[in-house]
Amino acid sequence: MQIVIASDYQEMSRKAADVIAGLLRNKPDAILGLATGSTPIGLYAELVKDCEAGLISFKDVESFNLDEYRGLEGTHDQSYRYFMNQNLFDHVDIDKARTHVPDGSNPDSDAACASYEAAIAQAGGVDLQLLGLGHNGHVGFNEPADHFPVDTHIVDLTESTINANSRLFDSIDDVPRQAYTMGIGTIMKARSILVVANGTDKAQIVADAFCGPVVPQVPASVLQLHPSVTVIVDAEAGSIIKDRL
Ligand code: F6R
Repeated sequence: MQIVIASDYQEMSRKAADVIAGLLRNKPDAILGLATGSTPIGLYAELVKDCEAGLISFKDVESFNLDEYRGLEGTHDQSYRYFMNQNLFDHVDIDKARTHVPDGSNPDSDAACASYEAAIAQAGGVDLQLLGLGHNGHVGFNEPADHFPVDTHIVDLTESTINANSRLFDSIDDVPRQAYTMGIGTIMKARSILVVANGTDKAQIVADAFCGPVVPQVPASVLQLHPSVTVIVDAEAGSIIKDRL
């Protein structure tokens, strides 16, 4: 595991964008695993700039997002599909037909999850999976548990995640209670993983996840077992881990 502490959010975003841009230059038809949330917004903006400058192209890229709320159409402004369109897909030369997000509008959770897992396998697996980090150590919507969920599955969101997400909805009652998410096994199958985290409020979980024991109560800790992980944090999120490296 390589841990990089950038000076600030902008530098974290640029360094993370450089990892993805480097992959796209080496492998223009890369399969990207993507994340939503506030952390990667800056890195997506950097990728848009690189694409506009002609430094990279998404023309042959295929992408798979980590997760989606169950019950939201892709046109809902809080759906993760909408987020991806707004922050990346609408601004780069990607073929939207090759961008995949779990189908939150499909109420048949078994079918939605099985077909997503099959589509990832059919594409040949993910080359690079981008991850943000939840305050409780969740990755995707894999919340602290007594085991590591393996495949794409339906989850009941925890109160802490519902509360964290409520800032994005008109009222807490509008926050979906369930989601479809890649499993920890799905994520661990990616050939490489890039984690980004910023802000003082992530400092403790960054230290727990990457310097603590590997336990399902801190889902991101399992990444310590993956052979190719890069963690890029800003100075605030790196403020505790910096003394342990
Ligand atoms: C996003 C996702 C979540 C976020 C995590 C951090 O697709 O699956 O696990 O990465 O909640 O969110 P932010 O970046 O908003 O702090």
